[in-house]
Parts: sequence; C-alpha cells; structure tokens
Amino acid sequence: MTSSSAPGKIILFGEHAVVYGQPALAVPVMQVHADVEIADSPRAGIWISAPNIHLHAELNSLPSGHPIASVIHNLFFVLNIDPFPNLQISISSSIPVASGLGSGAAVSVALIRALSSFLSYPLSDEQVNQFAYEIEKLHHGTPSGIDNTVITYAKPVYFVKGLPSPGRRWAGGEVQILKASKPLTIVIGDTGVHAPTKESVSDVRKLWEADKAKWEKVFDEVGEIAKNAREKIESDEWEKLGELMNQNHALLQNMTVSSPELDKLVTAARQAGALGAKMSGGGRGGNMIALVEPEMAEAVSSALKEAGAKNTIITTISP
Ligand code: PMV
Repeated sequence: MTSSSAPGKIILFGEHAVVYGQPALAVPVMQVHADVEIADSPRAGIWISAPNIHLHAELNSLPSGHPIASVIHNLFFVLNIDPFPNLQISISSSIPVASGLGSGAAVSVALIRALSSFLSYPLSDEQVNQFAYEIEKLHHGTPSGIDNTVITYAKPVYFVKGLPSPGRRWAGGEVQILKASKPLTIVIGDTGVHAPTKESVSDVRKLWEADKAKWEKVFDEVGEIAKNAREKIESDEWEKLGELMNQNHALLQNMTVSSPELDKLVTAARQAGALGAKMSGGGRGGNMIALVEPEMAEAVSSALKEAGAKNTIITTISP
C-alpha cells in the first residue's frame, strides 16, 4: 500500500489580480489535508472511494473530464502504463470543498504523488506541480497556478503566474519561498457558503473586459500591496501587514468578489482586535483570514463564531 497527504492553503494577498500577472502570497494550512491510499485490488478495474464527495465508482464509469479520473488517465498516459493495473484508491479529506482552502488541488497533488510512487515512478515537485496545474484547469478554467504551487511545495510562497512559452504548456510561474522572520498567527473563518472559484474568476474577467484600463489599475494596486506585504512579513512589521490586508480586502470588494457574510466576519475580526482581516481565495463565500497577535487568537476565533462563522482554524506560519 502507498499513501500520500497534501495540505490545504490560504491566499494571504493578491487573489484574482494574480490571474492577471500580479504577485500573490499563499501559505499551506497543515491542520487540514487530503489523504490518498492506494493498494492492489482483487477486483478488476480501478476502484475509487472518496466518501467526502460521495464517490464510489470504477474509473471507466466516470465522465472523461472528471478531475480524479483525469489525474489517473493523464498520469498513466505520460508514464506509459498499459494495461491499467487493478487498484483500490481511497481518498479522504478534511478540507472543506469550494471554500478557498484548495481542496481540489490538495486531492490532485496527493493522488499524483501516491499513484506515481505506487507505480515506482516518483516525480519531482516540479513535475507534480505541472500535473496538478493541468487538473486545476478542469476545476477553475483559467487558474493562475497558485493553489497547486503552494500545496505541492507545502511552504509559504510568493508567486507570479508563468506566461505560456513556445514548446511548453506552462512556463511554471515564478515561485519564491517566503521566509517570515518570526511566526505569523492567522485565524481562518469559514462563512459556510460554498462558492465556486470559477464563477468569481469569470465575473472579474467580465469586469476587466468591459474596462481594461480601470481594472488593470486596480490589479496593479493589489500587486503593490502584495510586494509590500512580502517585505513586511520578512521584517515582521505585523501592524503594517494588517493594514495591507484591510486595503487588499477593500480592493476585492471593488472587484465584487466579497459578500455580506465575508464582510461581516472581516468586521468582527477587526473589532475583536485583529491587526487586519480580508477574504481569502475566490470569494463570494468560503473563508476569510485575520492576522492576530498570538494571545488574541482565541478571542478573534470566538468573535468570528459569534458573527456566524461555521468553523475557525488558528494556524501559525513558521519562519
Ligand atoms: O481556489 P481559491 O478559491 O482559493 O482561489 C484561487 C485564487 C484566484 O486568484 C481567485 C484564482 C487563481 O487561479 O489564482
């Protein structure tokens, strides 16, 4: 039997603008993860069991664009595996779906790693990332690649989307590992509202298409915030970092990707003493994040629950 695990993630700064080439910052969230186990099966075929998404099926019964089926087909094609072995694949995940914590990318990364090592073709992180990016396109349409990248490397990253170049499907993006100078404490609050990233990304695209100059200026502002935030993280200027979070949230509100539920949690976190707060990920629902001094984490978490958060996670980003 072979198993693999991949963490969830949050975007600290720069979501949406990252799709248009601006930098963004994302960190893994180790408290939630996707886990994949693979074993030989006495039954013919490749049997997939993923109770979280009520999936119990043989590979060939899944539609061809199904992300899990696509991981298996793509990997077997590239590794030249034919005929397919008989397998039992078990997938479980504690990452809530459609909530900006990277559940789809985490399943892809864990499945790619488990399958390739079960078949004795271990892949480099770069190859895993590339495969996972292809699958992200099925989930999101036009992803920047930040989710698969932060989840593959399981480290805080400063990410700039790669431009497609001749002869390569994806240039890989520019990935730099972020180094906080001391631990950063983040409280994550879940609105409980499921919102597909594909829709908010497509709505931002419509805004941009209607007035490119206006929205590119907004994306540039978000990019400046992300660059500035990186400096503040590396020099542990938490108060200024909190202020940058608030500014980034206001620009995401302008992009129409926040929601009343997200705004309510963001306000509650700030009132409870957070240094700053913003929505995180695709928006319209899903999760928000608050930067806190460690001793304020519990109070902010309670305030978020009182304001309607369905769940909270306190996570620390270590240097
Ligand atoms: O998967 P989510 O909901 O965390 O959102 C990803 C971040 C976006 O910038 C909105 C989209 C992308 O591909 O970068």
